[in-house]
Amino acid sequence: MTAAVPNLPADRVPRHVAIIMDGNGRWAKQRMRPRAFGHHAGVRSARRVVRAASAAGVEVLTMFAFSQENWHRPEEEVSLLMQLFVQTLKREIKSLMKNQVRWRFIGEHSAFPVELQRLMRETEAMSKDNKGLTLLIAVGYGGQWDIAQAAARAAAEGEAITPQAIEQRLVTAGLPAVDLMVRTGGEVRISNFLLWQLSYAELYFCDTLWPDFGADELLRAFAWFAGRQRRFGRVPEAV
Ligand code: IPE
Ligand code: IPE
Ligand code: MG
Repeated sequence: MTAAVPNLPADRVPRHVAIIMDGNGRWAKQRMRPRAFGHHAGVRSARRVVRAASAAGVEVLTMFAFSQENWHRPEEEVSLLMQLFVQTLKREIKSLMKNQVRWRFIGEHSAFPVELQRLMRETEAMSKDNKGLTLLIAVGYGGQWDIAQAAARAAAEGEAITPQAIEQRLVTAGLPAVDLMVRTGGEVRISNFLLWQLSYAELYFCDTLWPDFGADELLRAFAWFAGRQRRFGRVPEAV
């Protein structure tokens, strides 16, 4: 696929982009509206960003939608988010099928409402042969959980615990490492997102609250990424 990013050669477009979508609550508060209002706006933002990433030629997009720590939010907000995930999946699946998006859900899902679990499985099954963007939605996800479950499986299979053995059992096994991580909302932290997979990612933090983030700002992040020299431990001359 050719990159549709102005002035950006295709080989400078990140293959795997991961996003911490933060700031919905503050966005709503600025408007004196309940947090739910911000989460609804956040879904619209996610839709714009998926389309822009896909058009730019990104191969894998991982979006942090609900962390394991988010279970500690008030029950009302948690249940609203669950409803919103169900609604969004039902609404988006058709158009994203048309766009050849391949959906995957990563995280620990057993505590989720059964309807949501079923929808996630169906969406994955329905889209698994699509040839476009691979869209990973991290829900009930924790980076520490991911590494621990990979190590536990390796141990159960009698494998030595090596970086390769873990890598092959992470929920992202077989996908390229994250090239670019974007966090909106002004906080400069990882919040237990993809810990292993971010080991050599370029990190882009911006103050924009997630509902205000769109295609323009995504392309700004890509342009910034294109200007990085990725040395992977080498000396500059050898890169
Ligand atoms: C991110 O926005 C969405 C989720 C974590 C589900 P927040 O809800 O964290 O918004 P802020 O950080 O309170 O503004
Ligand atoms: C990170 O945002 C999780 C998601 C975006 C899903 P949080 O708002 O939960 O992160 P903290 O609590 O500020 O670190
Ligand atoms: Mg937040």
